Order: sequence, then C-alpha cells, then structure tokens
Amino acid sequence: MESVTRRDFVRNSVAAGAAVAAAVTPAAASQPAATSDGTIKIVAISCSPRKGKTTAAALGVCLQAAKEVSPRIETELIELAGLKINGSVAAGIPLAEGERDDFPTLIPKLADPKVLGIIIGTPVYFGNMSSLCRAFLERCIILWQDNFALSNKVAGVVAVGGTRNGGQEVTIQSVQISLFCNEMILVGNGRPGPRLGATVWSGAEGGALKDEFGMATTKALGRRVAEVALRVAGTR
Ligand SMILES: Cc1cc2nc3c(=O)[nH]c(=O)nc-3n(C[C@H](O)[C@H](O)[C@H](O)COP(=O)(O)O)c2cc1C
Repeated sequence: MESVTRRDFVRNSVAAGAAVAAAVTPAAASQPAATSDGTIKIVAISCSPRKGKTTAAALGVCLQAAKEVSPRIETELIELAGLKINGSVAAGIPLAEGERDDFPTLIPKLADPKVLGIIIGTPVYFGNMSSLCRAFLERCIILWQDNFALSNKVAGVVAVGGTRNGGQEVTIQSVQISLFCNEMILVGNGRPGPRLGATVWSGAEGGALKDEFGMATTKALGRRVAEVALRVAGTR
C-alpha cells in the first residue's frame, strides 16, 4: 500500500487550497453580510445518506421557524444524500482516477457572504454523527484554508436519533467542535431551556415530525440561528 509522507500531505493540501481559491468567489473571503436590501440567507445541510427522510424533514421545520423570524430571511435545504464526498481528500489523499467529487459544488453555497447561518443536521449513528457528516466537515478544511471563509457565520446543529436518548447531545457537541474550529458562532436553543441544539426522536409515534419535544427544540434552534444571524448582519 502506498504510504503518504508529510511532504505529500503538504503538497496535496496546498494543491487543494489552490483549487478552492479558484472555486470560491473573491467575495467569499470577506465577512458575512446582508445584501443591500437587508436580506440574509440561512442554509441547512442534511447529512443523512437517505434523501428526504427524517433529518431532512426536521431541518425543513428548523428552516421554516427561522424564516418566520423575519421576511428578510431566505432559506435553502441542501441534502448530501447521493453526493460523493470523500473525507480523505482533506488529508491530502488524491481522488482515485475517475472518482467523482461533489464537495466543490457546495463551496460557493457555503462561502457566500450572504449566508449568515448554517444549520447542520445529522442522523445519530452509534452515538455520533454519520460518516457523511464527518466527511463533509473534514472537507470544510478547505474553507478554513481559504481565509476562514466560514468565520462569523452563525451555526446550529440538529441531531436525529431512532431512540429518545440515543446520543443526540453527544452528536451535537461532536459536530459543534468542527464548527468552532472554523470560527463559527455556535448557538443552541436559547431561552428558556439551556439546550445545545435540536434533539429529535424519529421513533416517535407518527415519526419525527410528531415528536413534540424534539420539534420544540428544532423550532427554537431555527429561531435562535435567525435572531443571531440578523444581529451579525447588523440589521437588527
Ligand atoms: C448505523 C446506524 C446506527 C444508528 N445508531 C443510532 C444510535 O446510536 N442512536 C439512535 O438513537 N439511533 C441510531 N440509529 C437510528 C437513526 O439515527 C435514525 O433512524 C435516524 O432517524 C435516521 O435518520 P434519517 O431518517 O434522516 O436517515 C442508527 C442508524 C444506523 C443506520
């Protein structure tokens, strides 16, 4: 098996950094800001490999709650299901010949200065985030290398588990650490309950959207991301 030396790592990382510099618009390196009409955008990333399932549904609720905070808020749900995101590229391992890589298509969406809030949603897998979520977060190193393109964007996390206390809080914290490293501004649910994020139970009778407690945390998180994002934009 071919070993990767430190020199390979540095060379490949630098090459990857150059590629992102070309892919990201020059404005991406600037601070997040509202457009001239005061509009901001909040993006949610669903890290379930299953398209349109419970994580995506919970994020839809979260975004709707964010939208209701102000007419100046636009939202977009991005599902990673079906996308090819190889986390090892972050460590300088080149793609295999002909291997598809969908991460670069996400870069302009994430780095857009108009995007003031990013909500990461992941299913709980064995008490932690999905491998797709991990790979996505690792690939975000390229934004870190690009002058901290995620810096000062507001971030929140939604974790969806098949059981009530299935590791949602540990999962949220695990995702939050990566976001902290990118200088993002982490928020939880705000008042009255000091919660880390949205903790959803997809095994509830009728499914995740019938999980009353989980949906309350989801809506509260959406509102909190929106409120702080508006503050960061200086429009509130
Ligand atoms: C490999 C695997 C591990 C899982 N581990 C947990 C777990 O530790 N805790 C939990 O509550 N649910 C666990 N689940 C259940 C999922 O978190 C749950 O079905 C979730 O709603 C899936 O999200 P999705 O519908 O968006 O794909 C696991 C599911 C899989 C496939």
